Amino acid sequence: MADHMAAGAYHQLLRAATTPLALQLLLLLAIPLLFLHFVSQRHRHGSSKPQPKKRVLPPSPPALPIIGHLHLVGDRPHISLRTLAAKHGSGGGGLMLLRLGAVPNLVVSSPRAAQLVMRTHDHAFASRPASKVSDALLYGSSDIGFSPYGEHWRQLRRLVTTHLFTVKKVNSYRLARQEEVRLVMDKIREAVAGSKTVDISETMNTYANDMVCRAVSGKFFRAEGRNKLFRELIEVNTRLITGFNLEEYYPGLANALSSLMASWFASNEVAKAHKRWDELLETIIKDHEGRRSRSDVGDVGDDAGQEESDFIDVLLSVHKEYGITRDHIKAILMDMFGAGTDTSSLVLELAMAELMRNPELMTKLQAEVRENTPRGQEMVTQDDIANMPYLRPVVKETLRLHPPAPLLLPHLSMVDCEVDGYTIPSGTRVIINEWAISRDPDSWEKAEEFMPERFMDGGSAAAVDFRGNDFQFVPFGAGRRICPGLNFGMATVEIMLANLVYCFDWELPAGMAKEEIDMTEVFGLTVHPKEKLILVPKPRGAVAHACRMSDSF
Ligand code: HEM
Repeated sequence: MADHMAAGAYHQLLRAATTPLALQLLLLLAIPLLFLHFVSQRHRHGSSKPQPKKRVLPPSPPALPIIGHLHLVGDRPHISLRTLAAKHGSGGGGLMLLRLGAVPNLVVSSPRAAQLVMRTHDHAFASRPASKVSDALLYGSSDIGFSPYGEHWRQLRRLVTTHLFTVKKVNSYRLARQEEVRLVMDKIREAVAGSKTVDISETMNTYANDMVCRAVSGKFFRAEGRNKLFRELIEVNTRLITGFNLEEYYPGLANALSSLMASWFASNEVAKAHKRWDELLETIIKDHEGRRSRSDVGDVGDDAGQEESDFIDVLLSVHKEYGITRDHIKAILMDMFGAGTDTSSLVLELAMAELMRNPELMTKLQAEVRENTPRGQEMVTQDDIANMPYLRPVVKETLRLHPPAPLLLPHLSMVDCEVDGYTIPSGTRVIINEWAISRDPDSWEKAEEFMPERFMDGGSAAAVDFRGNDFQFVPFGAGRRICPGLNFGMATVEIMLANLVYCFDWELPAGMAKEEIDMTEVFGLTVHPKEKLILVPKPRGAVAHACRMSDSF
């Protein structure tokens, strides 16, 4: 979600805390907090009450007063957390406790520890930390991704997994996906004709955004530039969620200042962004209601009417059954944009980057895709993909080395819980370092290398999948909070990747060597490459010809 909300508020706040402004703020806070700390210590030590039995906490590096371990977390937290875990957490079996500001954080860095947290004790760790920003943006965090564990969240999950993300429903968008892919291929052909380069990062982001827009609001989503407006609003949300948030580190102090913060939230950019989202979603929902009352839509879930049966139609038709309000519908829709756009587009961008860095793998994938698409066919279709056994391993290997949400979304413990002999107190935030787990040399052969073959039949990871059962590979999470949009995301990615390599040959801009493709990451809502991927598309003679001759797929 955030980070998908695709990587969540947590990731951004970790990042924000390392900025000079945030550090200055923390230092300013240090003096009064230090005072409170000493007062509370004196109070505790002066008390004559018997001390409770000492709990065994997971191992921790030495901490500083007030800021705890914040200074140890760099601007790419997934990397610094892996280094810290190797040094201090290995005795804890992949569990390490950090104090970020005043807040305890359990860092999970091994497949075994991930299984303990997301399977054995999943019920205890399935909540989310509170966030005033998400409260203000997402109708009191009444969406899915930020919602605390409880009946409301369960109802929404049930709704989306039963009605929006079933294999059948995702399949019903196949022609829509094909059409969106075709539009992108047409644009790339224009670039070929004009001997221009293609900004893959931008093109994939637009495609993923348009695909979510179309699924959410139907085929007229381009009307009045709504897709562009959604993109702009997603960017605003990302920026707001990634901003510094005192509550993440000093919830007590944030609560004490809550009336001040409430008026700040009411007048600031968060409120303005919320208003803009609300107005746009309200207009689109009203359009749908108008169409529904004129009863010119197909039945929800009916394949013939599938283009009309978009997410909004479905939500309007079932909301009473699930007891959800109009605001809840809007919050769910915001999640779809936040969680579904950046994640899918990053996988596409990084798959292309890895294939360009490994030309022999690009040639292998191209050969497979081209051989298994019927001769003369303009584009690869979803049906053709079933005959392409190398395509899925390429996507899996991209997800392994470059999980879009490397720390998943933050979880929160709801009760005191014993994990592997350690006590994890209620209210502990949980960071699952999927990035470290899926590069763990104990689980992966040549862990740092891009080797899709490992996922092929006979490969060392042939049986490993991403559906939350193999804890060395959890790019979508696992357990109760696993990504519900997994099938939607994979379908969006695979059809586009197949067509990119089917319709075109790709080169690097003149003078650039494959070793110069910059894979440096920037940590944010999701983890982005620092530099945009710019490539030069070249026509494939036969396909270019076939594209002009055939207009059907
Ligand atoms: C390749 C694409 C995607 C990846 C890698 C991905 C990854 C993730 C991850 C890591 C989480 C957090 C899991 C956790 O907390 O343990 C998540 C949650 C979520 N994802 Fe995705 N996601 C993808 C695509 C999508 C799409 C396309 C949608 C919807 C259109 C979506 C909707 C959600 C929602 C609503 C949640 C929150 C679930 C909850 O808190 O219960 N995701 N996703």
